[in-house]
Amino acid sequence: MREKVTVPAIQARKCGPKIKMVTAYDAPSARIADRAGADMILVGDTLAHVVLGYDDTLPATVDVMIHHTAAVARAKPGALIVGDMPWLSYHVSVEEAVRNAGRFIREGRAECVKLEGGRKRLAVIEAILAAEIPVMGHLGLTPQSIHVMGGYRVQGKRAEAARELVTDAHALVAAGVFAIVLEGVPDVLAQIVTQEVPVPTIGIAGPHCDGQVLVYHDVLGLYDGRVPKFVRQYAHLANVATEALQGFFADVQAGTFPSDAESYHMDEESARTLRILMRNEE
Ligand code: KIV
Repeated sequence: MREKVTVPAIQARKCGPKIKMVTAYDAPSARIADRAGADMILVGDTLAHVVLGYDDTLPATVDVMIHHTAAVARAKPGALIVGDMPWLSYHVSVEEAVRNAGRFIREGRAECVKLEGGRKRLAVIEAILAAEIPVMGHLGLTPQSIHVMGGYRVQGKRAEAARELVTDAHALVAAGVFAIVLEGVPDVLAQIVTQEVPVPTIGIAGPHCDGQVLVYHDVLGLYDGRVPKFVRQYAHLANVATEALQGFFADVQAGTFPSDAESYHMDEESARTLRILMRNEE
């Protein structure tokens, strides 16, 4: 049994060792991530995309996210469970945001929440923190802003935009976030933010962040399709799974599955009696 990773333990990792975060969306994937040594499991709204088959993360709702967060929590991982607040769950009002964050903790059994955005989220972050819920920030390419960004585009490529992002990072820290995800920004900008802020940065943003995060299905090659530049696939489990199922179907067709050892049996006497009963009923 692993020692439980806590928010203060993550904060203390600013000076290393590097933080390992991966997404997971159900109990088996959470168990695998935990056994592999994840420090944090993010129940990301990417589930809308990689699990539910949508083209983006916007269709994820609070109910769906909590359903999956609770499944991850039932695996009882040693890793810190991060609940990802979906689009519109913290945009309408501060009150609604706190209530939704609370649902992640009470119903989903998350141990903190993550939300996207910079200075415009300060009031929401402060209110959620005032309800004793730790908050992780998320800056740069924020997928919930896909329509404002005009697609999934690298952010902060120009000096002025990069300067704005650094200001956002400082503002999030002043509001009290315990860590910041930096997604889709140039490595130099991630390096500067990482040097500037006292909380850990978790990247999809080059090697200089205090930690790294990838989507479970991307790391394991669990679906076909285009793999983004920032992904390193460590396995091609979609191929492995397809071959395994082809083996099953071939055995079914050949009549070699199930074998005697894979079937349930009745004692001889009961089998004989059953046959007599059936014959008498004819
Ligand atoms: O939802 C998610 O999986 C994320 C990560 C990609 C950081 O936000």
